[in-house]
Amino acid sequence: MAQLWGGRFTGSINELAWDFNASITFDKRFLEVDVKGSKAHATMLAKQGIISEDEKDQIVKGLDSILEDVKAGKLEITTKYEDIHSFLEANLIDRIGDAGKKVHTGRSRNDQVALDMRLYARNEIEHTAELLKKTLEVLNGIMESNIDTYMPGFTHLQKAQPVTLAHHVGAYFEMFKRDLLRMKDIRNRMNYCPLGAGALAGTTYPLDREYTAELLDFYGPTLNSMDSVSDRDYLIEYLSALSTIMMHLSRFSEEIIIWNSNEYRFVTIDDAYSTGSSIMPQKKNPDIAELVRGKTGRVYGDLMSLLTTMKGIPLAYNKDMQEDKEAAFDAIDTVDNCLTLFTDMLRTLKFNKDNMEKSAMMGFTNATDAADYLVKKGLPFRDAHSVIGRLVLACIDKNCAIDDLSLEELKTFSDLFEEDIYDAISLKTCVEKRLTIGAPSSTSIEKVIKLNNDFLASFSIS
Ligand code: ARG
Repeated sequence: MAQLWGGRFTGSINELAWDFNASITFDKRFLEVDVKGSKAHATMLAKQGIISEDEKDQIVKGLDSILEDVKAGKLEITTKYEDIHSFLEANLIDRIGDAGKKVHTGRSRNDQVALDMRLYARNEIEHTAELLKKTLEVLNGIMESNIDTYMPGFTHLQKAQPVTLAHHVGAYFEMFKRDLLRMKDIRNRMNYCPLGAGALAGTTYPLDREYTAELLDFYGPTLNSMDSVSDRDYLIEYLSALSTIMMHLSRFSEEIIIWNSNEYRFVTIDDAYSTGSSIMPQKKNPDIAELVRGKTGRVYGDLMSLLTTMKGIPLAYNKDMQEDKEAAFDAIDTVDNCLTLFTDMLRTLKFNKDNMEKSAMMGFTNATDAADYLVKKGLPFRDAHSVIGRLVLACIDKNCAIDDLSLEELKTFSDLFEEDIYDAISLKTCVEKRLTIGAPSSTSIEKVIKLNNDFLASFSIS
């Protein structure tokens, strides 16, 4: 056991208590950000004359050499140390001696870990944003090539009105676009540097917190030292946004699972993202989509875990907050994998356009437009609704579409029907007449695709 404290103790810690208290098994992920933070801190200390330039140089070199050795597998991060901060400080002192003992001047592990978590989260938020951008590019690509791929739009999972695949996929573009914008918002709100807050009450050293913040690419320092070491709001916001991403991925996965079913056959999932059955030779299962749906619960759980951990903590730092890490790491890793795999699955998904169109034809998705046709010929809407309702009932009986009936047959329901009914209720007309922005016509979708392209070209996280 190599600990940073001990002077005040006469006895030694219980072994189980040591393990229970330690965080090195998971906070070793902070290796790089901790080094980065310590280098900035030492640079600021030297600028302020709190340590010498030479000591700063030794610290920077020492930290870099530790990082290099860990990466090269020459130095192992072991459970001998309580956390990554102790590991780095102890190894630094081993390597450079007295100068290493000065790196923690004017700093506490409380503001150190607050900084590490922020630096780590900021990198991850940027990475999530990159992944989301790729998802959006794939979605917009599918939209571009499916402006006239007709399919049924559903409500209650019942065929409702015809739409196009571009329009359906465009709904997900909007969802993931909001997710991406949330990343930008969160980054913007959290991008302040807590270093210099000390344990909770700042320090008596003449630190230049603005300078440290600048060195680490923050907008500036945080403004209350007690809040600085206690705040995990940004992490809660991030996990909440990750939960929303999972909710969107899960809904889309559910649709892909349905579309891939033997009954629908709207899509064929590439072999690379399917698995077989150990007993049923015919099976090709959508496991990746199912797992993405399944892992949603896990990310919600991580968010709930963090919210619950934080809810009863008095100011300022309390050890409960060490529990923020595993929940955050799990949510971040899960979303990273899900977004990557889902986007690749989407990119290779084959859309069976004929089946989609046939399904729209056979599902009375043009019934509303048939009623509107009668309204345009002078019938009040409620009466038109009733005529078409009876017409649909007759078609169900004959197992045919409205368009399959002859004009004579149609006229037995209403003499307002004329030859132009067939064109009025074709899938193409139903879609193309919906011209308002946000509706499925090619005119509207082309405008949206252009806006999407502009958004993707101009988006920047910072
Ligand atoms: N491992 C700790 C954490 O993750 C670091 C901060 C320790 N601070 C303390 N006062 N014991 O929260």
